[in-house]
Amino acid sequence: MRSLLVGFTLAIVAITAPIMAAQKVELSLDASKPGAKIARNIFGQFTEHLGHGIYEGIWVGTDSKIPNTRGIRNDVVGALKAIRVPNVRWPGGCFADEYHWRKGIGPQRSVTLNPNWGGVTEANTFGTHEFMDFIDQIGAEAYISVNVGSGTPQEAAEWLEYMTAAAPTTLVKARAANGHPAPYKVALLGIGNESWDCGGNMTPDYYVSQMKIYSRFVRNFNPAQQDKQQMLKIAVGPGGDGPRWTDWTETVMKAYQQHTWSWDINGLSMHNYTVGHWPPSYASVGFGETEYSQILKSTLEMEGLISKHSAIMDKYDPDKKVALFVDEWGGWYAPLEGSNPGFLVQQNSLRDAILAALNLNTFARHSDRVRGANIAQMINVLQAMIITNKEKMVLTPTYYVFKMYVPFQDATFIPVTFDAGRYSHGDVALPRVDAIAAKDTNGKLWLEITNLDPNEPVEIEAALAAIPAKSASGETLTAPKVDSVNTFDAANTVTPKPISAKVQGGKLTLKLEPKSVTVVSVEQ
Ligand code: AHR
Repeated sequence: MRSLLVGFTLAIVAITAPIMAAQKVELSLDASKPGAKIARNIFGQFTEHLGHGIYEGIWVGTDSKIPNTRGIRNDVVGALKAIRVPNVRWPGGCFADEYHWRKGIGPQRSVTLNPNWGGVTEANTFGTHEFMDFIDQIGAEAYISVNVGSGTPQEAAEWLEYMTAAAPTTLVKARAANGHPAPYKVALLGIGNESWDCGGNMTPDYYVSQMKIYSRFVRNFNPAQQDKQQMLKIAVGPGGDGPRWTDWTETVMKAYQQHTWSWDINGLSMHNYTVGHWPPSYASVGFGETEYSQILKSTLEMEGLISKHSAIMDKYDPDKKVALFVDEWGGWYAPLEGSNPGFLVQQNSLRDAILAALNLNTFARHSDRVRGANIAQMINVLQAMIITNKEKMVLTPTYYVFKMYVPFQDATFIPVTFDAGRYSHGDVALPRVDAIAAKDTNGKLWLEITNLDPNEPVEIEAALAAIPAKSASGETLTAPKVDSVNTFDAANTVTPKPISAKVQGGKLTLKLEPKSVTVVSVEQ
């Protein structure tokens, strides 16, 4: 059953659009037909050795005046803990296929180059131990991308032995000597990154031959991950829509269907940025409704892309054993003036908050197949949660969306049907609203509704069939303008505010501000 009815016809708009009056949208929730679990891993993050994502964003070093724990900034850790980051993908990105882990362990670190991102030097002071310490501090799991492009299966296998083995091998003794006798947990393993491009420009067949070798030999030895909590192996998947990408998905999934005992994968990655057009040239701040509506139109293409690649996966894996991991997504705009273009520095506005909500809702609607996603990137790069400058830190509108969505982590999807209506600007027509619902692990009902229309409020009336609701309360995120941002000097321009909702006669009613993201919970 389709959970979303996007029936926005011109006729409906003509009949129901009194100037400036709040539009009415009726939703209907059906708790008797629960869907799949919304995997907490769809709220994953990505951090790459790129610009100030890691150095300055996470790592300031033990000698820094910025308050830190073993070199990792405390303010960033505190903020990330509050959004319950399930996993962090590291060290890249394109960087991963040039990363050699031995340069980032022990007392003597090699200074190398980062040719992908600004051609700067890489101090390697943030390596395996520092990453593991960081994710431990924020309470997340490790998603390690191994080097398939310029590394070897042996190098990757030895990295995993170094991280996860418990038996007293030479590598395990080296890990202990470097300060960590106990094995680390690696929850997720990425076998390469964009191997069709920056990861080595491989053909699908060539990649599959490499992927099988890595899958076979790059083992997780952690005794605690042998039966339960087994490491999931994620193969490189598509990066777009055309035949090049459908061929890629076909080739990997066909290989999976024919796989033998000697190798396996548990996930297929997909990368899809909201760019508008390449190279990224949309401004991240200082734009108007035209750019707002165009970028949202572009981000809604995620739905078609997931449907297309899921359908191919269904052919080879009807039981949906292989998860789709959208492990790079988000808005990618023109670099901020004066910044190093290789550092991918951009602002983060209310538009990004709405973009994030729309994508998270799309992932949730596909939760039977999409069981992982990683927004790019966590700090100071692309669509970040956090922006820092020396000792200053500011939380972005996207950060607040992730915070508002915490209750959806591992919640059970509840179908919502609605006529989304239509918001138009110029030649762009978009659904006026989007919504998802879910029951959390304690049985509490949560509803998210996004009002894409930047000009008009929306009256929501949600029929809560078979849900004995008593009251509802929630938060809404909006701001004066579509390009409103939080800055170091004005950090609270885009922050969630309480919203009142009424429950009566099995119906929940509330009024949504224009251009807003709202999450409400229902007391039963
Ligand atoms: O996130 C920036 C880059 O985008 C990543 O390194 C790469 O995988 C993708 O092309």
